[in-house]
Amino acid sequence: MRDLTIAIDGYSSCGKSTLAKEIAQEMNYVYVDSGAMYRAVTLHMLNKGILKDGAFITDQVVRELDNVEIRFKFDSSAGRSETYLNGENVEKDIRTLAISKQVSAISAIPQVREKLVFIQQELGAKGGVIMDGRDIGTVVFPNAEVKLFMVAENDIRAQRRFLELKNKGEVLSIEDVRKSIARRDYLDMNREISPLRKAEDAIEIDNSELTEEEQLALAITIIQDKIKTVETAN
Ligand code: DC
Repeated sequence: MRDLTIAIDGYSSCGKSTLAKEIAQEMNYVYVDSGAMYRAVTLHMLNKGILKDGAFITDQVVRELDNVEIRFKFDSSAGRSETYLNGENVEKDIRTLAISKQVSAISAIPQVREKLVFIQQELGAKGGVIMDGRDIGTVVFPNAEVKLFMVAENDIRAQRRFLELKNKGEVLSIEDVRKSIARRDYLDMNREISPLRKAEDAIEIDNSELTEEEQLALAITIIQDKIKTVETAN
């Protein structure tokens, strides 16, 4: 059968990308991190200093979009796909709290979404792709055969993210991380265009109490069930 399209959406720091990478490896699918694309655009606009009183100047951001080229390249030594902005590897630079704080403002700009959704749909056009983000099951691939929606308790998400940033050498308090996650969820759920929401046909996974292995096993069972349903229908 044709390779499937798998969409994973959910709140910030719910482990979407960890799960998506593991499924991609297990199924030999291509993994696309759509959040990395919004982060790369944010980095570009910050580098250009297109801000006034701490807020992005929308019309300048829109004009500058023509100068943004984003690619993913697989790094075999790291065993993962890395993000390139205009030819430069920005994988580390886009994962800081400074970018996390600004990315929701950039991702609320319609022209930014239009450009990135177009690229995402091209990347997934042939199937055999798993993409994570906020609007993958609702807007990017509304016909995806498998849609997962990830949730986890706030304290657990904050703790995971805090450890992740700490391991990367960022000095901050867990309270800062908690606030940043809550703010980002709020902005992502309440923006006018393509807000974060669960697609009607998405299956929710709450991983608060699950280990990585349990979460992967659950997702694979859901996907295999779906494959059987699709095959029976054909
Ligand atoms: O998945 P992430 O935390 O790296 O995503 C960063 C931000 O990008 C997120 O807060 C909102 C935005 N985003 C989006 O609007 N749509 C997507 N499909 C993916 C991310």
